[in-house]
Amino acid sequence: MKLDPESYSTRHKPLDSVRFFISKILPKLGWGRNDEKEIILDVGCGPGGNTVQLIVPLFPKIDKIFAVDLLPEMIDFAKKYNSHTLIEYSVANIEDWSSVEGWGNKITKLTAIHCFQWLKDQRKSFCNVFQLLKPGGEAAFCFVLQSSFYAAILEIKKNPKWSSLFETVDDYVADSHHNNYHDAYYEEMLKQIGFDIIYCKEEVKIDIFASDEEYREFFPSICSLTSHVPAERKEEFKDDLFLALLQQNGRNSEGLPQHWGNMLELVIKKNK
Ligand SMILES: C[S@@+](CC[C@H](N)C(=O)[O-])C[C@H]1O[C@@H](n2cnc3c(N)ncnc32)[C@H](O)[C@@H]1O
Repeated sequence: MKLDPESYSTRHKPLDSVRFFISKILPKLGWGRNDEKEIILDVGCGPGGNTVQLIVPLFPKIDKIFAVDLLPEMIDFAKKYNSHTLIEYSVANIEDWSSVEGWGNKITKLTAIHCFQWLKDQRKSFCNVFQLLKPGGEAAFCFVLQSSFYAAILEIKKNPKWSSLFETVDDYVADSHHNNYHDAYYEEMLKQIGFDIIYCKEEVKIDIFASDEEYREFFPSICSLTSHVPAERKEEFKDDLFLALLQQNGRNSEGLPQHWGNMLELVIKKNK
């Protein structure tokens, strides 16, 4: 998988739905109020904007946040543009225990913002989270279950103009979209692993974008197909993805482009 941290980061502002979950819901559940020393791990931190803007302010008393991402280019970008005295960035794959085992049984709070929809084996990754957490530790996730972005990707792949280019390309459309998984599926899986469910909310979220330009740049930056488009056809691809997204989502009453996604927010606790 290849993503472009620079174009992802042009949209500096976190999605409203993410900001609300991290800044309003988590403090209500006691996050950030612990007097004990916390060890935080942010999984799939990407270019680091949300780690700096949302995760750091959540914990007024911490010494350090570890922030990891699968892609070295994301970590390079994060170190360059979102460095912070409290954050230590590194490359790691949450699906591969050997790459995270150094934190085994040590983490008191783990966050993963819009990362788990990218994983091929979510169950294994939740098991790795269980092993990473200290007993009593908690993990917070928000990720996409079904979305108009996935629907638009599947439309583009069917379009004869593009289909031959993407025949053998992994589109990273989540299993939850194809198989229509919902909250109950995850609650069952997480209980089986040994977690207590502290908070679980499935909700269709509409995120409004400030302009067509922002919308047109943001989605190609999180689309695994983009890196397979030859440079001379990139703008054409962005236009077609933009139109496919608009067809799925329409515009809001003020004419601004929007996106709907059925999102899952979860807070889970390792009790043993
Ligand atoms: C949509 S971005 C979200 C980034 C950031 N959390 C944010 O809120 O802006 C998803 C990130 O998850 C990362 N990712 C995907 N699979 C991963 C894995 N197996 N382990 C760690 N990170 C992963 C991707 O490289 C990407 O940077």
